[in-house]
Parts: sequence; C-alpha cells; structure tokens
Amino acid sequence: MAAVEFEKENGILWAKLNRPEALNAINEDVVEGLEKLVEKVRNERDIRVVIIIGEGKAFCAGADIKMFLRSSTFEAREIIERLGKALEAFEDIDVPIIAAVNGFALGGGCEMAMACDLIVASENAFFGQPEINIGIIPGAGGTQRLARLVGWKKAMELCLTGNRISAQEAERLGLVNRVVKQEELKEEVLKLAKTIAEKSPTAVGLVKQAVNRGFKMSLRDGVAYERDLFALSFASEDAKEGMSAFVEKRIPEFRKKR
Ligand code: CAA
Repeated sequence: MAAVEFEKENGILWAKLNRPEALNAINEDVVEGLEKLVEKVRNERDIRVVIIIGEGKAFCAGADIKMFLRSSTFEAREIIERLGKALEAFEDIDVPIIAAVNGFALGGGCEMAMACDLIVASENAFFGQPEINIGIIPGAGGTQRLARLVGWKKAMELCLTGNRISAQEAERLGLVNRVVKQEELKEEVLKLAKTIAEKSPTAVGLVKQAVNRGFKMSLRDGVAYERDLFALSFASEDAKEGMSAFVEKRIPEFRKKR
C-alpha cells in the first residue's frame, strides 16, 4: 500500500493519505507521495481539481515524530525542505487543491491543509501547531501561512501554546472555508470540486494565480497583475464560448482538459 493513494474520476483526483496506524504522520513515503501528486497534476492535463483526504480518524497528525527521533539535524532539514517545496508547488500548480479535513490536522498536517486552496472540515476536525509541545517549531510554513490566514496575534498564540482549535473555531478565524457533518464530508467536497471542474480550466488556473501570487504583492501591483491575467483569460477560446453561451441563453461547453 502506498503512503498516498490516488484515484481519478471525471477529472477529480483523490489523494488519500494512507498511514492510518500513525494518524497519517508525514514520513519520507508521504513526502514522496506529495511530490508524486504535484508531478501527476503537471503531467495529466485532464485533472481539474485535487482533493486530499486522510484515511482513518485523522487528516494528518504532522511530521512523523518517530522518524524525527532517528534523524540527524541534516536529515530532518532535508525532509522538511522537500515537504516545504511540495507545499509551495501546491500553490503554484494551476489546479485547485481542496483539503478534506476528516479529523486531526496538526503540525505538518495543518501546514499541508493551509497550503491547499480550499479547506472543508468535518465537524469533528481539530487544527493546531503543537510542535512547541515537543520542543521544536513548525517547519513547513506553520508560523507564516497561519499568520497570513488568521492574523498575527492569533497565529502567535496558537504556535506559542500548541493549543488545538475546533473546526468551528477554525471557520470563525477564516482558516477553514466550511464545516460539514462528518458523514457528509466526502459528498460535500465532491460537490464543491464538481462545481469548480465545470468552469473553464483556463479561467480556474488564472484565478488561482491571481489570488496566490497577487497576495504576495502590494495592492497596486496585484491589481495590475490581475489586469494582465484578465486579458489572458479574455484571449482564451473558453472566454468566447462562455460569453456567446450567455448571449445565446445556453450552458457553455468549456474545454475538458487544461
Ligand atoms: N508522528 C508519529 N506517530 C504519530 C504521530 C506523529 N506525529 N501522531 C500520532 N502518531 C501515532 C501514535 O504514536 C500512535 O501510535 P502507536 O499506537 O504505535 O503508539 C498512533 O499514531 C495513534 O496516536 P495516539 O494514540 O496518540 O492517538 P490519540 O487519539 O490518543 O491522540 C493526537 C491523537 C492528539 C493527534 C496525538 O497522536 C498527537 O498529539 N500526535 C502528535 C501531534 C504533533 O505533535 N504533531 C506535530 C509533529 S512535528 C511537525 O509536524 C513539524 C512540522 O512542522 C512539519
């Protein structure tokens, strides 16, 4: 069994973290699986949306602490760097990634979810950066993405205390897009993925670029960047199809592949 399993159906790629016995803790095999996920999306142009979910009672309980105990500083740095690069690639690829958080999303698990474009959590999910409890600090973007998502002070509190927050609190803080019933998680995430997969793949990719890259710019630079991407979207075949379909009062037929 692979540590990350893939299943593709109608343009939606499910990536399942599959180490339930260790609450899907991130070891080298999981990192390799995440790298494979990025490569798959880059190569398989029919993938329109990715959903990451965890097998068992956790989404992911963070880096594998048992692996860390056996690692030299150099080895730990290397695995964290590979994880960090895979998560950066999540932001760069032109396909939205949805984290379907079915339980604990702690440490590296919270970091993984935050690097996804959307987070749907089941009502029993918990989020947190508990690294401080074991004498280390987050290493895959926890102190950085969390501060940008929930604000400076709240991120500081979560990273300093290691406290866990509920899915409901995470939603209130803007960390999570929506909270759904545990038994409806897959169905709700799939519904969201299908809604996005029906749009123009060009426009979807450009929205992702505009939001993710623009977020790192000043407002003025971001808006100028958006104008250029708007022009790119305007030049696509899908733009002609979308606007014609509106005028002709019919459903647009967008390209199926990116
Ligand atoms: N690494 C390795 N194994 C882990 C693990 C982890 N992060 N989290 C859980 N496990 C293992 C446990 O050791 C246990 O295995 P055994 O049965 O062999 O003992 C199994 O998964 C089940 O876990 P628990 O019995 O602890 O389950 P629980 O329901 O009582 O508690 C939990 C769940 C609160 C999530 C608890 O497991 C926990 O606190 N886990 C560690 C969370 C953590 O500290 N994460 C941060 C890791 S460091 C990091 O992520 C750095 C980074 O920035 C990348």
